[in-house]
Amino acid sequence: MSENNKADVLLGLQWGDEGKGKIVDVLTPHYKMVARFQGGPNAGHTLVFEGKKYILHTIPSGIFHKGCVNLVGNGVVLDPFIINKELDQLNIPLDVLQESLFVCGKAHLILPSHRLLDAAFEKKKGNFKIGSTLKGIGPAYTDKVARTGLRLTDTASESFEDKYNALKQEHLRLAEGLDFDIDELRLDGLTFHDYEKAWFFGLERLKALPRVQSEIFVNEALDKGARVLAEGAQGTLLDIDFGSYPYVTSSNTITAGACVGLGLAPGRIGEVFGVFKAYCTRVGSGPFMTEIRGEGADVLRDLGQEYGSTTGRPRRCGWLDLPALKYAVMINGVTRLIMTKADVLCSMKTLKVCVAYEINGEEKNISPLTTDSDSLNPVYKEIAGWNCTLDNVETFEQLPQPLLDYISMIEDFVNVPVDIISTGADRKQILIRKGAGILKRLSLS
Ligand code: GDP
Ligand code: IMO
Ligand code: MG
Repeated sequence: MSENNKADVLLGLQWGDEGKGKIVDVLTPHYKMVARFQGGPNAGHTLVFEGKKYILHTIPSGIFHKGCVNLVGNGVVLDPFIINKELDQLNIPLDVLQESLFVCGKAHLILPSHRLLDAAFEKKKGNFKIGSTLKGIGPAYTDKVARTGLRLTDTASESFEDKYNALKQEHLRLAEGLDFDIDELRLDGLTFHDYEKAWFFGLERLKALPRVQSEIFVNEALDKGARVLAEGAQGTLLDIDFGSYPYVTSSNTITAGACVGLGLAPGRIGEVFGVFKAYCTRVGSGPFMTEIRGEGADVLRDLGQEYGSTTGRPRRCGWLDLPALKYAVMINGVTRLIMTKADVLCSMKTLKVCVAYEINGEEKNISPLTTDSDSLNPVYKEIAGWNCTLDNVETFEQLPQPLLDYISMIEDFVNVPVDIISTGADRKQILIRKGAGILKRLSLS
């Protein structure tokens, strides 16, 4: 028994798309279990290896490693239609899946009518729309909290179809009240009716996956000494409580979310790996203080291929926001930082970094997430770029000096070490610092 064995958490520190999927894939060989704890198909986690690219929405990013147990926890919301599509993409034989992918029966289902409501609410909001991925996330979590939702475990009940139809009718009534015309709706290119048919087909496949109670499954694995990595979706600044509300997602994307989304006691959390981009992006509406307007953003978007993995929408681009990063480190109790996409800034001669905020003419060292002030202006420091390719850099220590200085500046600001740098989308493009704490944690030093 290893009662002191703890689960590590990996999550995003900005507005999502920090490269979490890639980093989980890189770390998976050192873990027995990878577990998703919140969010649903609004997530798009990209993995690139052997010249192929895969985008995962619900299935944990450990799925491509033989012997890794992947768990979809109770805190995740499941759309059987999308899971079915993901399983098709993976093309893993059922007998292998039976040993590598487990789903918690307590996880809530996203009904087609949740997606209908997502579209109806967004349309009604007009200019104030959230910019949702329209995957039904908000409405599904709303039903969960209202205690009217359907869980995967409910599908075993004889009355499931009655319950499904009753909830659907409720949703249809709501959509009608919002003047939303169901005939104008297309869900992944399908009419509501066709989507619903495919949804029920997917449900049979989802029901065939091994079902567990995530809290028992994870805690027993830890007791037996297994290494567990909890994989976050979205990012800290999209957290329902601590993000830029109401322009957020509908779950807790932070470390505490791993506790409730898997059934882990706070004392069972070990290291917290915070992933961030060397700059910032955001997809959807809402405040973005360090956003670059105009052509500058187009340059960064093209260099970084900043288009949504789930919706294909262009991502808004901007400079690194250190006060916001420090806030995310605090909320999550981050112990190790992982920086991605430094390669994207390679061709820039100078960079800007936000180091403080000016409020009513006064410079303050606070996060933009902690003030209601309207007159909030980022204070930038301009620094030299590295202005060279990272393609041939083989070790962390060989990184160009301006990039090492950039890393030191971040570490000094947030007081947490940067242990890993990702220099490209491929699994192999990764540099771990010599002597980094993460190496010890993974028993690599
Ligand atoms: P996630 O949602 O946090 O998993 O991130 P996404 O997959 O949505 O977006 C990250 C994008 O950047 C994907 O296209 C990745 O393949 C890519 N990516 C990840 N790390 C790096 C990196 O270090 N450099 C570059 N150029 N691309 C990266
Ligand atoms: P990954 O896991 C980036 C954003 C949406 C929108 C807001 C609410 O790939 O990092 P929702 O569909 O949840 O109601 O949308 O949150 N959003 C994401 N942005 N990456 C994601 O996930 C996101 N998931 C949701 O664009 O602004
Ligand atoms: Mg993504």
